Amino acid sequence: MQTQKTLGIIKPDAVEKSHIGEILDRIEKNGLCIIAMKMKTLSQAEAAEFYDIHKERPFFNDLVSFMSSGPVVIMALEGVDAVHRYRQIMGATNPQNAAPGTIRADFAESIDHNAVHGSDSTETAARELKFFFNEDEICPRLVTQDRH
Ligand code: CMP
Repeated sequence: MQTQKTLGIIKPDAVEKSHIGEILDRIEKNGLCIIAMKMKTLSQAEAAEFYDIHKERPFFNDLVSFMSSGPVVIMALEGVDAVHRYRQIMGATNPQNAAPGTIRADFAESIDHNAVHGSDSTETAARELKFFFNEDEICPRLVTQDRH
């Protein structure tokens, strides 16, 4: 299995409900390293550009409004099979279908307000990481950890 990087977002609903700490704890306890993190409120234009792939979908306008409605926590994550691993920790997009013990099963209200986002492939991860982080903001850690 390969070491990968992926992009995660703690969405405005989970930030509002003070679930940042619990979500970060699950990420770290499940073997992923946080290698960059920032908190910000996205503008409507940033949210629309980030979710550009969904611009033809009926939920696009609601998604953009929601994602720019309050602060989010944006994270670069690193680990073995990180893209798939983080998606497993998140659970299904619709919390009604999310496996017990996943972030969305425990913290999400609905498919629209679903607590977290994660890249869906290594290609998407590369684009999404670049969207939010400069190279010099990312602090890879696996090399150091492997030495222990
Ligand atoms: P996310 O992983 O951030 O990617 C796009 C978001 O659109 C998704 O999570 C959901 O919150 C939201 N969304 C709303 N309706 C749908 C839908 N029918 N299918 C997929 N995503 C949806």
